Amino acid sequence: MTKIAPSILSADFSKLAQEVKDVEQGGADYIHIDVMDGHFVPNITMGPIVVEAIRPVTSLPFDVHLMIENPDRYIDDFINAGADIISVHAEACIHLHRTIHRIKTRGLKAGVVLNPATPVEWIIEILPDVDLVLLMTVNPGFGGQKFIPNVLKKIRHVHELRKENGWNFEIEVDGGINEETAKFCVEAGADVLVAGSAVYRSKNRRQAINKIRG
Ligand code: DX5
Ligand code: ZN
Repeated sequence: MTKIAPSILSADFSKLAQEVKDVEQGGADYIHIDVMDGHFVPNITMGPIVVEAIRPVTSLPFDVHLMIENPDRYIDDFINAGADIISVHAEACIHLHRTIHRIKTRGLKAGVVLNPATPVEWIIEILPDVDLVLLMTVNPGFGGQKFIPNVLKKIRHVHELRKENGWNFEIEVDGGINEETAKFCVEAGADVLVAGSAVYRSKNRRQAINKIRG
């Protein structure tokens, strides 16, 4: 079954614990946590303190999406705060192999992320080592943006490579995912759908999650 990872970026931060519990009760599979530093992307969000604060609230895996420069510097902090999966942007890592293995040797799942304009060729050598490939379907930085359909080709490409090589990472998509775009992504080979506004802007989170799951 397709997994749904609600992004708390679109949650009401004044009652974050309740917002996390709400999507857990609504059937979410992961909690997607968007970390932005104002350098790699033009927005600033949350750090390890927030991750630590909501850790006791749910037993769902924390899917931490680092949109930061020099992610190596902060990996340990996010691990200690309670992350389960940490994904880093290929565009932000000069020593991607080292960074991925730094995450894995601590016993976590490691993901690699590509911006919409970055080709799959950038990560081909690391694909055998990762647990997750996150394909951005918007330019990272903000919730509520429009899905970029051209990324569907890339989802198909990664899906084909996984099949041909017998790899078993999950394929995740992030940005502009709603009931309609979710369908295209799943058809193309996505296993995990991140959804921020489509889940949190809807009153009935369970219903929203079910609709996106299709
Ligand atoms: C974008 C973030 C996304 C964002 C998705 O930079 O990585 O996770 O929260 O939000 P929606 O689903 O509203 O596009
Ligand atoms: Zn994200």
